[in-house]
Amino acid sequence: MTAEPRIRLDQLMSRYGYCSRGQSRAWVKTKRITIAGVPAKDPSEKVLISQILIDGEPVECPNGVLVVLNKPAGYTCTHDLREGASVYELLPPRWVDRNPPVTTVGRLDKDTTGVLVVTDHGDLVHRWTSPRHKISKVYEITVGQELDDQLIPLFASGSIVLPGEIDPCLPAKLEILTSTTARLELVEGRYHQVKRMFASEGYEVLQLHRSRFGDFELKGLAPGQWRFEPRIERPK
Ligand code: URA
Repeated sequence: MTAEPRIRLDQLMSRYGYCSRGQSRAWVKTKRITIAGVPAKDPSEKVLISQILIDGEPVECPNGVLVVLNKPAGYTCTHDLREGASVYELLPPRWVDRNPPVTTVGRLDKDTTGVLVVTDHGDLVHRWTSPRHKISKVYEITVGQELDDQLIPLFASGSIVLPGEIDPCLPAKLEILTSTTARLELVEGRYHQVKRMFASEGYEVLQLHRSRFGDFELKGLAPGQWRFEPRIERPK
């Protein structure tokens, strides 16, 4: 087993989103931080994270954040406040001040609901958004007019070319559930892909809900709720 590395206390405070390195002096002065039960004296001291309490609490998520959020409609996946409410408002505010900050793994449109993975593990974001890894995503769709069975072989054929694009969409598995609802499994994540695939065949998507991303599912999470996920090697 490798020994727990030491980190400067002021670096720790900024890395985990508590305050800037400069501000950590004030936190030390007001005795908000203890090291193995003793108030910290010097922000430059090299410490073991496991020995630190901040306002009496251990350092939050010392090994990184990985959560599944049930994104409600009306929230964007950006940090830009001009775009209205953001999914980051549904998460602990300190997480966006971490370095690196938490970020969504890909984006859902403002009106799309469902499974959204959020993490500060840059390697996971990269892997799970890279087209090379072909992560499977499942969407539940309601459209504005009766669905035609011919969409099933068409979406499966890998021949749909979206307006303004050159490469056809990869084969996607469409299941028609009722006359106006369907389930679509994709391995890509192009911009507005589901809405644009349906639009290319004359359908307006009225409701879009992602029920699975890789093997992450909601498992009873209500809209706006999130839960921690263990960091394991998924989705495949
Ligand atoms: N496809 C879309 O069109 N919108 C989403 O939010 C996700 C996939």
